[in-house]
Amino acid sequence: MTNTQILENAKRNKIQADDLAIHNWYQFILGYPPHLVREYINRFGLAEEDAILDPFCGTGTTPVEALKNGITCYGLEANPIAAFASKVKTYTGYDPEMLRDYLAYIHCSMKASYEHQGIRELQENLFAYQTQMRTATIDNAPVLPDRQKDVIPKGFISTKPLQKVLIIKEIIRTIEDETARNFFLLALAMFIVKDAGNIRFGPEIGKTKPKTDIESLRTFINIAEIMIADVENTRLIKHAHIMDGDAREVGKYLPANLHATINAVVTSPPYPNEKDYTRSTRLESVLLDFIRDKKDLRAIKNKLLRSNSRNVFVADADSQYIREFSRITSIADEIEKRRLDLKKTSGFEKHYSKIVLHYFGGMYRHFKTLKPFLAPNCRLAYVLGDQMSFFRVHIPTAELLAEIADSLGYIVNDIELWRTRAATATKMQIDENILILENT
Ligand SMILES: C[S@@+](CC[C@H](N)C(=O)[O-])C[C@H]1O[C@@H](n2cnc3c(N)ncnc32)[C@H](O)[C@@H]1O
Repeated sequence: MTNTQILENAKRNKIQADDLAIHNWYQFILGYPPHLVREYINRFGLAEEDAILDPFCGTGTTPVEALKNGITCYGLEANPIAAFASKVKTYTGYDPEMLRDYLAYIHCSMKASYEHQGIRELQENLFAYQTQMRTATIDNAPVLPDRQKDVIPKGFISTKPLQKVLIIKEIIRTIEDETARNFFLLALAMFIVKDAGNIRFGPEIGKTKPKTDIESLRTFINIAEIMIADVENTRLIKHAHIMDGDAREVGKYLPANLHATINAVVTSPPYPNEKDYTRSTRLESVLLDFIRDKKDLRAIKNKLLRSNSRNVFVADADSQYIREFSRITSIADEIEKRRLDLKKTSGFEKHYSKIVLHYFGGMYRHFKTLKPFLAPNCRLAYVLGDQMSFFRVHIPTAELLAEIADSLGYIVNDIELWRTRAATATKMQIDENILILENT
């Protein structure tokens, strides 16, 4: 790759400084930057009476950016913690004064609870904050049930940081106002990922050296204060409607009165690779009780588009929808042939060819159930990465989805190169494209 390309890629990937507010509250490492959404709002000529949809909205880049630009937005997301983040980020009725009062309450309650339970901080007494009369003292050390511990990968959080997180959660739970409660729970999710857990992203989730203890008072309060400042300084115009749902069945989640009303779609579905989104969000999902046991985890995986070998199930049948697409079935055949040639026999590797079939079958269902909701001439932008994760067989994701969309009556306007990325296995540069479609 040339230096110009490297610089160009870096610019495309980077979130711009002016864009940080709200977007950076809790986000996926692999989300796209807000300026991309803005670019398509402009290119599609969206006006204030229009509505945009992101059917794979993750932690809310499209919804937040739409509201910053005065466009109504609908979002669907199947991973509950990501849907929760999108809802909290796009809520427009926060009262900063009330949030500040609650933050003082949380702070005093943390101090009182730590004192009561004999918990020490790393830098005792260095951090003074407003005092307030009302506090909640958590008397007994909260315990994480074994059925929840069992779904957290080993070593993702150490004992003392876990103890502090559970106390903060109990305190936040005593807040009467639901929107304020959710606001601080999202702050806690950020605190878990950035400060309490032994995790890092690169871009896959990995473990850091265990943190035996953490400074929690100052760190948590700082995170929440920055969020409150964002609320004060950012104007979100219009509303977002975020639904927990499966984009393969759009009609089950979007209300019928939205038929033929969506003017644009800007989205990025998962790619067919080995990325397990439920693992990258596992620690905070469990600690905030979005996952209470293995059954919950499985139910979440079941709602996701099949894109990795950790979420393929015996009963899966999405492959049936793409049997006629010979380019897709040939890729699946080639993957299976390479597996046999390479004598790879693990259960995960045996799934690779099926993932490709179920992935494109799931996207077929998505495009089909989406269509009734699109206004005439609705424009759609899908950010899609080519992949080589399965025995290095090249999967031209955007091209194959263009074929599927075309068969369902969409007009394929273009496939634009967005950026290139180094493939994890080969370090070869592979394309990430934007598939531009139009509703007829
Ligand atoms: C590439 S990420 C999107 C990131 C997003 N643009 C953001 O700003 O955070 C893909 C998202 O699709 C979600 N997803 C996967 N399968 C889904 C499905 N069947 N329905 C809805 N969302 C799904 C994943 O949980 C993930 O959040």
